[in-house]
Amino acid sequence: MRDFFLFLFLLHLCLFSGSCSAAGVQDVTGNGYNLGSVNVDPSGKTLTANLKLIQATSAYGPDIPNLTVFASFDTDDRLRVRITDADNQRWEIPQNVISRESKASTRAALIGGGRSLLRADHVFSSPDSDLVLTLHDTSPFTFTVARRSTGDVLFDTYPALVFKDMYLELTSSLPGDRASLYGLGEHTKRSFKLSPNDMFTMWNADIPSGNPNVNLYGSHPFYMDVRSSSPNATSAPGSTHGVLLLNSNGMDVFYGGSSITYKVIGGVLDFYFFAGPSPLKVMDQYTELIGRPAAMPYWSFGFHQCKYGYKSVAHLENVVAGYANASLPLEVMWTDIDYMDKYKDFTLDPVNFPVDRMNQFVDSLHKNGQKYVVILDPGISTNESYGTYQRGMKQDIFVKRGGSNYLGNVWPGPVYFPDFMNPKTAQFWADEIDIFRKNMLPVDGLWIDMNEVANFWTSSPMNSLDQPPYNINNYGNRQPIYSRTIPASATHYGNISEYNAHNLHGLLQSIATHDGLIASTGKRPFLLTRSTFVGSGKYAAHWSGDNYAQWNDLGYSIPSILNSGLFGIPMAGADICGFIGNTNEELCRRWIQLGAFYPFSRDHSDIRSGPQELYVWDSVARSAKKVLGLRYRLLPYFYTLMYEAHLKGSPIARPLFFSFPEDINTYGISTQFMVGPGVMVSPVLTSNADAVDAYFPKGKWFNLFDYSQSVASESGGYVNLATPYDSINVHVAGGNILAMQGEALTTEAAQQTPFEILVVVDEGGNASGEVFLDDGETVEMGGEGSDQWSLVSFSSGTEEKGLKVKAQVVNGAYALKLSLPIEKVVILGMELKGTSKVTGVSVDSQGKITNLDVSVGNNSVVEIKGLPQLMGEEFEIKLEIDG
Ligand code: NOJ
Repeated sequence: MRDFFLFLFLLHLCLFSGSCSAAGVQDVTGNGYNLGSVNVDPSGKTLTANLKLIQATSAYGPDIPNLTVFASFDTDDRLRVRITDADNQRWEIPQNVISRESKASTRAALIGGGRSLLRADHVFSSPDSDLVLTLHDTSPFTFTVARRSTGDVLFDTYPALVFKDMYLELTSSLPGDRASLYGLGEHTKRSFKLSPNDMFTMWNADIPSGNPNVNLYGSHPFYMDVRSSSPNATSAPGSTHGVLLLNSNGMDVFYGGSSITYKVIGGVLDFYFFAGPSPLKVMDQYTELIGRPAAMPYWSFGFHQCKYGYKSVAHLENVVAGYANASLPLEVMWTDIDYMDKYKDFTLDPVNFPVDRMNQFVDSLHKNGQKYVVILDPGISTNESYGTYQRGMKQDIFVKRGGSNYLGNVWPGPVYFPDFMNPKTAQFWADEIDIFRKNMLPVDGLWIDMNEVANFWTSSPMNSLDQPPYNINNYGNRQPIYSRTIPASATHYGNISEYNAHNLHGLLQSIATHDGLIASTGKRPFLLTRSTFVGSGKYAAHWSGDNYAQWNDLGYSIPSILNSGLFGIPMAGADICGFIGNTNEELCRRWIQLGAFYPFSRDHSDIRSGPQELYVWDSVARSAKKVLGLRYRLLPYFYTLMYEAHLKGSPIARPLFFSFPEDINTYGISTQFMVGPGVMVSPVLTSNADAVDAYFPKGKWFNLFDYSQSVASESGGYVNLATPYDSINVHVAGGNILAMQGEALTTEAAQQTPFEILVVVDEGGNASGEVFLDDGETVEMGGEGSDQWSLVSFSSGTEEKGLKVKAQVVNGAYALKLSLPIEKVVILGMELKGTSKVTGVSVDSQGKITNLDVSVGNNSVVEIKGLPQLMGEEFEIKLEIDG
């Protein structure tokens, strides 16, 4: 009892003195605000509350005296809480960059004046939402967001909120023993799950991603919080929510385990809470706000080869020939800055990459069903005879500082940077893309690099924007924010400072490039960007940047790709075999084994690195053939995952807990991942290994390279798997149906091969899956034209004497035009006795019955042939088991 009173006393002290000393909460620099009036507008949609500063503090500049809190249920699953200056407008991300339309619930209401132990409460809730906002009339003011159905407090701010012109600070407590957090990127980490006592700085910078724990190319102030129901539970229903701080300014986010602290150098506190309650639901709700992931063309799921340092068109031709001679798939050939004339965008080096030879080269790629992608950099050379520069000057579209164009320095030497905030710049950029594609080279896609923006010069600071009172942990050592980029005092269109817009550059350039590609090609664009922000996935794919050709980096690639998925950029990969430094045969072999299952699969290396194309070493080539063979067989699955990502934001590569949220052991796994809901990749990540300890969530798992090999996991656990030098473990879980096609050297050829339907039943005989089919390049994926795409859903279930498998079709006409046979249906997981005899028939939509050819192999692998239906027809297979 005495302890209880002591606890209450300490809690009281903590709440009212602003001196909470919970782990991770650092220097409290303000006294906070008192809550004034609280109102809900007559429509019931928006809550508005006034906050008044209690007492100013001197650190980090003067406090803003009056704040307003706006809250609204933008959708039933999304609560917004925005705190800003009541008297002056502050910088916020423009609506035309990220639109945040509210589909506000009209049923929200304020329940005033309720009182809890120490706090007077104003509860804002909606009967349609599981989220409840409570404003606490404590001194200083705090707020909480809770889950109505469980009472779980999701976000619980500490005293005291700090709101100054160039420094905002807010802390929320977290149940450290139950909350697993993910996100807050972009950073390189060994663990996907965030570790306590870690700092996450967001200020886009050209820092090689081989460096863990520092700010990198993108900023995503979003986290997913997976809660288990009780601290010691190993298996619990739990629930997941998401939190976004929509703010483009530089910031440090400190995760203390039982708290999270935001220290932001500008803008407003604009929080969005996503109710979940599953990880996939959070992704759906998050991408509903920030934009659904861009549909990628089918070909982009093929294998890509790149290098910085392909010196001539002959060099490119040799590489393409190298792949053909080794009978290895090569879908897309890339060229880095080497192709340009003196590193000027939209030019070709007349000596090493002459326009006629280049056109012959690209033509021969196209004839072979292959594609070509080149790099573009943001900096435009100031060489006066350069057309792009002249047109840019004429249109006056460059970033300014002190009234004149800001001069930076990148590959071509002195450069001006197009200001993508200026509406004219998107047209300028689209025109340059079109001029290049039409007059020089019809490239199929674009790669936008160095767009943080990287600058080889550091300009001297000019004013307080370059040197704000609080130094974020830029480069991991609090380097000035003007280091090696456009200085923060530079200005964009509309007098917007680089200080505010810096983190948006990659996103803005992605939008312009995406739109320019559509205008020029009329097709679904493929665009790879290095720098990203919230919402970039709507326009572009992303790779993890400059990793090292080292074993550590092979491991880092999994959390990096999972993070991209979490940020709404599912088309993600890492430079296979490693970028910086020389790779070696063993590392490159292990890397392609893993990289074959990245959503975006590209081999790329630095100009100083030796050759690392997959044919360079025989053992790498042999292994690559095997793993890329499986990737190409899985192309319909990858592409259908792209369709689902585009519809609902579900990542293509996912952590295990997305499929098994009830299994707490999966929360900390960063060395394995899922492709979609059912395929698990368990790679070797260390040298000299011939086995791997892989975690198998409960269920039966089949090896996709050899269906007769399976792992039955009773309740979830680690299994030691043999992984000889040329192999990787890829398993499919019971409950899934995969539509697969044949191996081929290009995706075009693979798309013409017959289908295999792999039905992997769970203990109850149930499984499901679907396949989406279209031409792979129409701008809209699954758009309105119902004759342009088909969706076939497969399901299985037990019947009295056996099993049935059903195909149901939406818009069958498109698929039927392709005339693709289903060569076989393979059923795994039936657990037949040796004496069992299996027979089967198929029944079409008219009731016509056809006898099927059924055989049973090792491990109860049932193979069914002779199905008369084509992909796109509805049918039902009925299997009868005797004995
Ligand atoms: C930096 C990029 O990250 C890298 O991939 C590229 O090769 C170099 N720039 C040269 O363009």
